[in-house]
Amino acid sequence: MYSEKVMDHFTNPRNVGEMDDADGIGSEGNPVCGDAMKIFIKVKDDKITDAKFQTFGCGAAIAVSSIVTEMVKGMTLDEAMNVTKASLSEALDGLPPQKMHCSNLGADALHKAIEDYRKKNSV
Ligand code: FES
Repeated sequence: MYSEKVMDHFTNPRNVGEMDDADGIGSEGNPVCGDAMKIFIKVKDDKITDAKFQTFGCGAAIAVSSIVTEMVKGMTLDEAMNVTKASLSEALDGLPPQKMHCSNLGADALHKAIEDYRKKNSV
């Protein structure tokens, strides 16, 4: 039921772990399934230079965390704000319908991390 890409990112997730010197941190959780995701970003000249995650959740949530942290490296903050749950699921060659909310977590946690960065750096 999962695509090969989902399985790959689930069994071999990229960018796992905490980032001590993160410029922005976003947390998101789903009260229904209890899954939780935290995304850390490093920003330079309005671009995301690095991203990491900590996720307590299902296989799809892990795969989404892995792909989102891969995708956003090199993006401008505006580009990363346009990353949606649909683009994440597409990047994973699709998610089963009952797992679409897992991709929501990824988009929301990312956007919160960007908002966190912008709040800390607004003049
Ligand atoms: Fe809830 Fe995957 S089952 S995030």
